[in-house]
Amino acid sequence: MSKVILLCGSPRADGNTMSVLKICAKEIEANGLDTEIINIGDKNIHSCIACGSCGETGKCVFDDGINEIADKLREADGFIPAAPVYFGTARGDIMAALQRIGKLSRGNDKFLSWMVGGPITVARRGGLTLTLQEMSMFFIINEMIIPGSNYWNMVFAGPKGAYKDDEDGIATIKLFANNVAKLINKIKD
Ligand SMILES: Cc1cc2nc3c(=O)[nH]c(=O)nc-3n(C[C@H](O)[C@H](O)[C@H](O)COP(=O)(O)O)c2cc1C
Repeated sequence: MSKVILLCGSPRADGNTMSVLKICAKEIEANGLDTEIINIGDKNIHSCIACGSCGETGKCVFDDGINEIADKLREADGFIPAAPVYFGTARGDIMAALQRIGKLSRGNDKFLSWMVGGPITVARRGGLTLTLQEMSMFFIINEMIIPGSNYWNMVFAGPKGAYKDDEDGIATIKLFANNVAKLINKIKD
């Protein structure tokens, strides 16, 4: 069965980002695909130190969960990372994770190539489009495929649970999730 990995970059385990990802996963599963949500919000994710070791071993030198996520991605067909906006850009750990996952793929077996997915961002008020652009750079440089939706993948939400009030944002995420699943099903035909 095809599988989509969803990566949550919020430190609030029951925050808006995780809630939006759960909605996303439910839509994907309704299309007959398997999903797994991985939370890195409670981990200390190192930034890449450009040691080049992954190019020789296929593994990152840091033992903080990124190697395990890369192994799961090697078996998956889709990838959807989601981040809260912090001071106008993505929370730091999610970018550190994406940069290291990208380096693992590019320097070795290119497991990200032709994976379907795209970023999701959540914020109270400002920085959503820039954060989407920031995270999209990871997809484009790794030969990944981002399907569209009826708007950009952003949800306006400040306090916990506020995501529910952004009905347009949730509709955009649901359509995006459906398009991810449909495209994976087509590619797999
Ligand atoms: C350190 C910090 C910086 C933030 N910076 C922004 C910001 O630049 N723009 C914004 O709209 N919201 C900002 N927020 C609000 C969060 O993006 C918002 O509360 C979001 O819903 C958090 O997602 P979560 O519930 O998944 O943690 C910030 C929150 C924190 C803790």
